[in-house]
Amino acid sequence: MSDGQDTGRPEFTLVQVADPPSSDEEMAPMFTAPVSDGKRHKNDIFRPGPGPMVEFRGVTKTYDGGARGLDGVSLRIGTGEFVFLVGPSGSGKSTFIRLIIRELRATTGEVVVGGRDLATLRRSKVPYLRRAIGCVFQDFRLLPDRTAAENVAYALQVTGHSQKEVRRRVPEILSLVGLDGKFDRLPRELSGGEQQRVSIARALVNHPRLLIADEPTGNLDPDTSLGIMDLLQRINRTGTTVLVATHDQHTVDRMQMRVIALDQGRVVRDEESAGYHDVTGEVLA
Ligand SMILES: Nc1ncnc2c1ncn2[C@@H]1O[C@H](COP(=O)(O)OP(=O)(O)O)[C@@H](O)[C@H]1O
Ligand SMILES: [Mg+2]
Repeated sequence: MSDGQDTGRPEFTLVQVADPPSSDEEMAPMFTAPVSDGKRHKNDIFRPGPGPMVEFRGVTKTYDGGARGLDGVSLRIGTGEFVFLVGPSGSGKSTFIRLIIRELRATTGEVVVGGRDLATLRRSKVPYLRRAIGCVFQDFRLLPDRTAAENVAYALQVTGHSQKEVRRRVPEILSLVGLDGKFDRLPRELSGGEQQRVSIARALVNHPRLLIADEPTGNLDPDTSLGIMDLLQRINRTGTTVLVATHDQHTVDRMQMRVIALDQGRVVRDEESAGYHDVTGEVLA
């Protein structure tokens, strides 16, 4: 399908940015969380301070029926880190992620995100937690009847941004993730990699402090996967903490970032700048 094809839909009224910024420095002002004015904002649920972005202290999650998702996990993810969470299917990666966004609660132990103990976070504050965290999933989760631009705009509209802000920020962010010329496409008119870029744009548009991706390349071919991982790494270099659950061995090896390996709900390795082979070498050798 070629760019600019007449799809019969009214065009989304956005001016496309001609030259997307190419360097990390140019990306930084758009991605970095707004500089604190020293005051606490009512809905800013992260506590300011030098502490880690995510801390698990002896966390066990037992599902109804008895399956154990996590088993005594303790670890810290520092602000600004890029971390791969690896492990075979069923090892607890998604459980770990769902605990961070409080889709699940720990059975025992503490999950602390942005300095907030999630056990004591009031239910009414959970939407603000999820707003401070951008989430990307294997199956993209785009609205099928909305264009790329409308999918991203929606994330801004629900957080109360003006139409003027929406018109400014949506094309900026879509250009940044490499989607120039495709703003008005429906998800089904985009490739898998392009759909994942829309979902990353949507996750980023509210300037999250933490970006979490659960198997973001699970439905993509290897070349496309590398492009998505590069984008996530570029986002990290602008100061956003990034956590990626994956069993995409090739990318993990290539990127040489911190790798936390889970097996049967336990942390079996945690290494700085490791490759997938390094962390699972005992099993694979
Ligand atoms: N909703 C659920 N109900 C019961 N057991 C679950 C549920 N989700 C996950 N589990 C179990 O928890 C363990 C870890 O699963 P999960 O966190 O999804 O692993 P991964 O994402 O690494 O594949 C598995 O044994 C799985 O069967
Ligand atoms: Mg999973």
